[in-house]
Amino acid sequence: MTVSIPSPLTSDIDWWRSAVVYQVYVRSFADSDGDGVGDLQGIRERLPYLRELGVDALWLTPFYTSPMVDGGYDVADYRDVDPMFGNLADFEAMITDAHALGLRIIVDIVPNHTSDKHPWFTAALAAAPGSPERARYLFADGKGDDGAQPPNDWESIFGGPAWTRVPDGQWYLHLFDPAQPDLNWRHSEVRREFEDILRFWLDRGVDGFRIDVAHGMIKAAGLPDVGFNSMTTGRRQSELLGKGRLPYFDQDEVHDIYRAWRPILDSYPGGRMAVAEAWAETPQRLARYIGPDELHQAFSFDFLDATWSADSFRKVIDTALAESTIVGAPTTWVLSNHDRQRHVTRYGDGEVGLRRARAAALLMLALPGCAYLYQGEELGLPEVLDLPDELRQDPAFLRTGESRDGCRVPIPWSGDLAPYGFGPAGSALSWLPAPTTWRALSVAAQTGTPGSTLELYRAALRIRHTHPALAGLGGITWLETGPGVLAFQREAAGTVLTCVVNISDAPVVIDGYGTPLVASSTLTERDCGHLLPVDAAVWFERHPNG
Ligand code: GLC
Repeated sequence: MTVSIPSPLTSDIDWWRSAVVYQVYVRSFADSDGDGVGDLQGIRERLPYLRELGVDALWLTPFYTSPMVDGGYDVADYRDVDPMFGNLADFEAMITDAHALGLRIIVDIVPNHTSDKHPWFTAALAAAPGSPERARYLFADGKGDDGAQPPNDWESIFGGPAWTRVPDGQWYLHLFDPAQPDLNWRHSEVRREFEDILRFWLDRGVDGFRIDVAHGMIKAAGLPDVGFNSMTTGRRQSELLGKGRLPYFDQDEVHDIYRAWRPILDSYPGGRMAVAEAWAETPQRLARYIGPDELHQAFSFDFLDATWSADSFRKVIDTALAESTIVGAPTTWVLSNHDRQRHVTRYGDGEVGLRRARAAALLMLALPGCAYLYQGEELGLPEVLDLPDELRQDPAFLRTGESRDGCRVPIPWSGDLAPYGFGPAGSALSWLPAPTTWRALSVAAQTGTPGSTLELYRAALRIRHTHPALAGLGGITWLETGPGVLAFQREAAGTVLTCVVNISDAPVVIDGYGTPLVASSTLTERDCGHLLPVDAAVWFERHPNG
């Protein structure tokens, strides 16, 4: 039976333009059944928390049937929920409750590759070279007399060759883990299948999709060599791009796929959207993913990559806003996600890192466009750097020594003992252990605590939603400042909101911007204004004609 649940949130189809989206890493958010793994029912139970936090939408990382080799980014059945996360009825109950609370739901779609346990891939392995079953993936003969060399020099983003040989001698391509075989997106059946998968979830009321590796689905014809060792200076997709266009990323034909997807999204009511996790060599090429006939947004990771300096932030913000004007779509701002070290730690860890992370949050939330928060950043969580190696599950860890597990530790909710309310009362299980220092960072410990990071986020989100200068899409005007200080204003309905961030090495006196609304560190009043400490941000409000 098809259950069609129209989104009740039909009032503003452009909701995504200025939304605050909260990324739920499902495995690590809330565990309702005590097995140590987060689940859909856990999310459902915590929806009131998210409503109160003040976000507009949730992006859920993959919860589909999966052997979990890559945390669910290896999907064996795109139309079902993995039992570890619940079932379809749980999903439907969760989305119904979310919509009732005014929260939209974005789900992850993983089209570049399936799991090696997907029925298509097991059929491909059982079938002969040249068979229709193999045609849905990228199988090829090897090089050398006996075909013992991979078909080309491509390397996996998780390290090692991007090809694995099967017993009959052919090789298959996997840009990621060998358990994630790449699909052949030149095959019409693959395209039809994913169009149907989109409809399956749209019929269940989802408000959007986050498209995994959206730039990777089409590979250059003939699968040409890259011609150099692409992994020598770094394994991140961003680092690969500086070396020129790779034959497996950002090929022009990939846009045909999105031009076919957009009418599907547009055929549903309520403003269904898609955001691409896409990497391209230049901002201009990234912009090509966005537009009325393709996708609504592409993540811009430049803000995340900015260093802690006023110049770096200013440059990234100016570039992003200029691009968004060109494409007519709002910028996306991201500080952390499930693939990158948490920004508290990136900015120096400890007290310094936290102070800077709080300031960065006020900077991000004052900018026009859509902000993506990663679960736990509202608690000021740092990266967990000392996980024992044997507990690390990131498939990249074994191949490269780099692990993304430290940002995926289950978040703390309450109580004195790990895992701090992640599971039901009395449950001591969590798939990764939380450090003892997280007791003081739990939701319960921070709720109502003046100056806590959680209360800072709540206050900032409340203002962002209600303040005319922030709620809209109006641009920013930079103000003259001393070195190391960023200040810009946004104006609407006779009110000016000014955001000031002090990234210099001394406190600065600020005068003339009106009344402080929220600050990331304590402001001191002076005869002539306010003293803003180092590594801190503040929002002021004034009414020039009032
Ligand atoms: C994306 C995901 C990452 C995953 C990879 C392969 O980059 O964000 O977590 O490992 O795709 O699916």
